[in-house]
Amino acid sequence: MFPIERPRRLRKNETLRALVRETHIRLDQLIYPVFVRPGTGMKLPVSSMPGIYQWSVDLLTDHLEEIYEQGIRSFLFFGIPAHKDAEGSEAYSPEGIVQVALQTVKKRLPEAVLIADLCLCEYTDHGHCGILRGNDVDNDMTIDILAKTAVVQARAGASIVAPSDMMDGRVAAIRHALDQAGFQDIPIMSYAAKYASGFYGPFREAAENTPSFGDRRAYQMDPANRLEALKEVLLDIQEGADMVIVKPAMPYLDVLSDVKNSVQIPVAAYQVSGEYAMIKAASQLGWLDERRVVEESLLSIKRAGADMIITYFAPLFAHWMQQK
Ligand code: PBG
Repeated sequence: MFPIERPRRLRKNETLRALVRETHIRLDQLIYPVFVRPGTGMKLPVSSMPGIYQWSVDLLTDHLEEIYEQGIRSFLFFGIPAHKDAEGSEAYSPEGIVQVALQTVKKRLPEAVLIADLCLCEYTDHGHCGILRGNDVDNDMTIDILAKTAVVQARAGASIVAPSDMMDGRVAAIRHALDQAGFQDIPIMSYAAKYASGFYGPFREAAENTPSFGDRRAYQMDPANRLEALKEVLLDIQEGADMVIVKPAMPYLDVLSDVKNSVQIPVAAYQVSGEYAMIKAASQLGWLDERRVVEESLLSIKRAGADMIITYFAPLFAHWMQQK
């Protein structure tokens, strides 16, 4: 008798396929990144990310309320400040744009998980993720400012802070500062394995954080390295990270899988702006079936080991789920 094994038996129809399906995407494990800027009545399209906008707080709050109703419950906040300076002082100003957004959204959606991206690159006039000494980002001066910013974000209503700067020792510094200020219960979700990636291209337009000189390779990871990701992740956990992020997602599924198999805390993957833009562009040209490809990309990320996915597709995916 040939063939002896017939795996096709379990693929015969959709009901049977659903019965044996190993991986599922859940709306309550998707995190939607948003860009907020000063002003009112503003919804400015980001041209390299169709469907993504820079919002003023009022319209953002309405938008998030609508999406919350559709089942997306976690949001990641990026701010475009009114004013940038060498220290990135709007990052830690109590009146800074992200703080205002956190306060406002928290009032409207008290149960939502509001994650504050914790980095200086949107707030510095030079666009680097920390304080410059000469042409280099000074690690230890930067982590002091990050720690201070984390406390201000927590005070404004952040449920979680998410450091994305890749400075050494920042998780310990942030944990210490939060504890000192009475925020022992605020978790840290660290971008632990964050690569110096070309896939962040469209984000630079969305968040207006392009470095005015040089690049981020002196602090973000080299795309060629796999073992180093585990080192970064384990260090962040030792320092007190409650969750870790691997970023980008699809080009780094090997790293994601390694991390998932090495840690006992929740692991998130960030499907970044360039991953979003590629799918959007090819779909608009009719070269890819958007819905199929988005579902498949999210499934691949889950299958590789992500517990949570940070994705700009969250609202669209929720919309498709409602149609089903
Ligand atoms: C930096 C930051 C970046 C992203 C998230 N946080 C950009 C960078 O490191 O240059 C990129 C996210 C994306 O591309 O979607 N704070």
